[in-house]
Amino acid sequence: MRIVLFGKNGQLGWEFQRILPILGEVIALGRDEVDVSDLHSVQKILNELKPNLIINASAYTEVDRAEIELELAMNINALAPAVMAEAARKQGAVFIQYSTDYVFDGKKDIPYTENDPTHPLNTYGRSKLMGEENIKQAGEAYLILRTSWVYSLRGNSFVNKVLGWARKNENLKIVSDQISGPTWARMLAGITSLMLAQNSANLLEIIRERRSVYHLAGAGYTSRYEWAKEILVNDPNRTEQIVRDLEPARSDDFPTTAVRPLFSALDCTRFEDTFGLKLPNWNSTLKLAMTR
Ligand SMILES: NC(=O)c1ccc[n+]([C@@H]2O[C@H](COP(=O)([O-])OP(=O)(O)OC[C@H]3O[C@@H](n4cnc5c(N)ncnc54)[C@H](OP(=O)(O)O)[C@@H]3O)[C@@H](O)[C@H]2O)c1
Repeated sequence: MRIVLFGKNGQLGWEFQRILPILGEVIALGRDEVDVSDLHSVQKILNELKPNLIINASAYTEVDRAEIELELAMNINALAPAVMAEAARKQGAVFIQYSTDYVFDGKKDIPYTENDPTHPLNTYGRSKLMGEENIKQAGEAYLILRTSWVYSLRGNSFVNKVLGWARKNENLKIVSDQISGPTWARMLAGITSLMLAQNSANLLEIIRERRSVYHLAGAGYTSRYEWAKEILVNDPNRTEQIVRDLEPARSDDFPTTAVRPLFSALDCTRFEDTFGLKLPNWNSTLKLAMTR
């Protein structure tokens, strides 16, 4: 199997680089190889490489900056995935796209299912939702996997931010009214790869039949505040922390350019029922992720 991976240097893309070679020949592309906002380049490279599987881990993920760089966010999150989905259809390849819990407005108080109406509150969410719609129009054998609060121990994740803040501040305030499911990038790449491996004998046919939007995130849900507490407890170098007080705060205390949904946990039953796989609880996963 020949696999093209976009976004190889992101949280998820990096983890895919580690695991995908088990499945086949991997051509991993980062910004230096292909700028995905240049739609012609995306089309050209896929025409040249003719993969059997395209995984898009690239995205415009700066939620606040997207309000200003609207056009760029739309190109990367809405238009590039459409080009990938269309190329996949024309070439008989499978296309895997990731989307977000931010397609919802966060007004529910139980986890969102794939049947719940979408209503994004910010440009990032709108651009990702437009990406979903475009893929449905242009694609054939695709999966759109909506996930939430992706983190890794590499890069600028919430986990690393909290660890950094705890080394610089005695008092920390973290919002307790934003609730979702933290998802370890390594687990997300792992469960996707396992699903692809289990179906590899007849992948194109199976994914064509099962093409849909699926929710796929760490099981359970929590607030940013509770998540931060667990991050501090699991810090492998706890003695470096100077933080004494971790206080809950409200989103209103920290105005941001983009409005975020308050409750955006995802119900992942459809993925589990379809593929027989589920991500473990966010809390036990965080412990594993943070243990050296
Ligand atoms: N992070 C979250 O909390 C979260 C939550 C829900 C859903 N998701 C979705 O999950 C997926 C993976 O997210 P992630 O956290 O792994 O994202 P990430 O760490 O921000 O990685 C995104 C990657 O896309 C690349 N990229 C951005 N613009 C590009 C361009 N014009 N050309 C080529 N590459 C470009 C970035 O390249 P550089 O490394 O060069 O910047 C980066 O490597 C995305 O679809 C995202 O929307 C994420």
